[in-house]
Amino acid sequence: MLLAIETSCDDTAACLYWQGQIYAHVVYRQALHAEYGGVIPEWASREHEGRLPIAVQEVLSQAGLTWRDLRAVAAAQGPGLLGSLLIGSTFARALAAAWRLPFIGVNHLEAHVASLELGEQPVAYPLLVLVATGGHTHLFRVTHPLGLELVGRTRDDAVGEAFDKVAAALGLPYPGGPHIEALARQGDPRRLSFPFPRTDQPYDFSFSGLKTAFLRAREQGHALPDLCASWQHSVFAYLTQKLLEAARALGLRRVGLVGGVAANQYFRNYLLTQAQATNVEVWLAPLAYCMDNAAMIAVAGWHALLTGRYTSLTESPFARS
Ligand code: KG4
Ligand code: ZN
Repeated sequence: MLLAIETSCDDTAACLYWQGQIYAHVVYRQALHAEYGGVIPEWASREHEGRLPIAVQEVLSQAGLTWRDLRAVAAAQGPGLLGSLLIGSTFARALAAAWRLPFIGVNHLEAHVASLELGEQPVAYPLLVLVATGGHTHLFRVTHPLGLELVGRTRDDAVGEAFDKVAAALGLPYPGGPHIEALARQGDPRRLSFPFPRTDQPYDFSFSGLKTAFLRAREQGHALPDLCASWQHSVFAYLTQKLLEAARALGLRRVGLVGGVAANQYFRNYLLTQAQATNVEVWLAPLAYCMDNAAMIAVAGWHALLTGRYTSLTESPFARS
């Protein structure tokens, strides 16, 4: 069994995995940040420290196994919050040292991309994948699960961060994305229109202007559901247009969507419709594995294990991509 651990931000997760199958998976979503509009790093580390040993015990007992059944330990090494990463990575490296198992440090963004392999439809490579999370908005040309080439990235806020900041300004709990989506469901996505931001590089993104435009429209007194629906529509139309344009420019007829923001149902449907119209095939991360989880760490770790790509126990986690 491969034991995988995820503690990059505010989710504490552990998974047991072998050869395409999840044997046990536990995700503890830290609730204590909800009322503060964002993650408080020091608290997140504290919570990981308390929860992670319990999560690991829980997956072993769910699967009816012991540490003697383990063949390798994988953990997220970055990017993310350094204090949070240190808890998971140091815990994993200590287990690997004590049990004499190989350790695999997993890149959190590679893991989000690998979450596509948890879906039912086998992934055909190469494809262009949009990683849309609270910390990142990156476009990668992916040639195999661990072969990522950066095509574009946000110049300022990540798309999930824009959702979280807009929600915080409205007094909604963190993470804000699901709350904005819920309000949007009652509104008209065509009531208002927000211009697409411009960037120097054609496949880079920018979200800070869209975030400000939302707050300005709010001051003008537009109904909140219409505002959320129209804003969310503009954000996703912008992302979809860039994704499909970049795919065409690179000669790719396959795209993927992963990360917490990929849990948005409007986005999923919109991308599917637009891609279908241009004959592009779409892979969506399964809903259960969009937000941070340890199953995606396991899949990326599995590919590293297969190719013997182990990580030294002295290698430290890193905060930035
Ligand atoms: O991938 P993830 O769990 O963590 C990071 O790696 O950052 O993504 C979390 C982000 C948050 O910003 C959250 O607001 C956003 O994903 N999110 C959503 C939705 N569900 C989560 N954004 C829009 N619509 C959603 N339904
Ligand atoms: Zn993530």
